[in-house]
Amino acid sequence: MGEVDPAYFQQPEHRPKLEIVQAQGIPLIDLSELTSNDPSQQPSETLVEEIRNACRDWGFFQVVNHGVPLETRQRIMAASKEFFAQPLDEKRKVRRDEKRVLGYYDTEHTKNVRDWKEVFDLTVEDPTFVTASYHPDDQEVDEWHNQWPDFPPHLRGACEEYARAVEKLAFKLMELIALSLGLRADRFEDFFKDQTSFVRLNHYPPCPVPHLALGVGRHKDAGALTVLAQDDVGGLEVKRKSDGQWVWASPTPDAYIINVWSNEAYESVEHRVMVNSERERFSIPFFFNPSHYTVVEPLEELVSNESPAKYKAYNWGKFLLTRKASNFKKLDVENIQISHFRVPELADALEGALKLN
Ligand code: OGA
Ligand code: NI
Repeated sequence: MGEVDPAYFQQPEHRPKLEIVQAQGIPLIDLSELTSNDPSQQPSETLVEEIRNACRDWGFFQVVNHGVPLETRQRIMAASKEFFAQPLDEKRKVRRDEKRVLGYYDTEHTKNVRDWKEVFDLTVEDPTFVTASYHPDDQEVDEWHNQWPDFPPHLRGACEEYARAVEKLAFKLMELIALSLGLRADRFEDFFKDQTSFVRLNHYPPCPVPHLALGVGRHKDAGALTVLAQDDVGGLEVKRKSDGQWVWASPTPDAYIINVWSNEAYESVEHRVMVNSERERFSIPFFFNPSHYTVVEPLEELVSNESPAKYKAYNWGKFLLTRKASNFKKLDVENIQISHFRVPELADALEGALKLN
């Protein structure tokens, strides 16, 4: 088995406990009324209330009867498995680098500790328009293009079909979230006109040191919303808001795990991925991100004296670029996090959401 590179070892306080705490109650929400009813009909107040409670109390929930066809999910999962089963040399032909930021990658670090995983990233829009420089005054725009491997040949089609299907679900969820904040259902739609969303194929190989390493170290996702498909192995842990305990997000067949926001009205929640020594695991997050020129700041209708802004305004594109670049190497500083934009003295305030510049 050989020596394991200590770059993978978590600090003792961040190592996972191998005995699992079963998540009591990560909410499971049935969306069948959206998929079966006439689309012009407003969602029921019961559904909106369920979303509101889940976002507020957990920041994470699962959805079933979500409208994404099972075959679409099975196709991308199968293609992902075929892609990762290839020798490293093959996968490295579509390796991501500083110029081509999409494709295969096996040396991601989260908070400067190496993740026990390999990934393949693709954007939902091809090309995706992004800020070219992190410099605040530089307005230049760049294009990101997907890189597709020769094998398996159906990977591209499977990914594109999946991205379109999950995008629909993401838009529906944004409507429900808007309603849950007392806003018009379409309040967030414009932010996603030139979306920078991306899909990641994650592969977590079996790990000889699951008590020392993590598939992904603790982190918060940065976008508006993450829609995650996981296989039946399990490994995702969510930091429960009520007591800070790491709890296991049990796989539910054909459900999607929704991780809400990262700042703004509903606070996004830390999560991490455990690995195990026996079974490899596959997962596919869809990171639903706004256009690069979005200024992320509280929506004016949600800010008041009683609930002031919690974060400083920032440009989404510059944030995304900084994050992507910091992934290429182990930096001396912690990767850029949304919390770097926090207004510390207002940390207890709750309301706010995305606002289009
Ligand atoms: C991620 C992530 C969870 C998982 O890729 O950001 O949190 O279960 N993945 O793979
Ligand atoms: Ni994540």
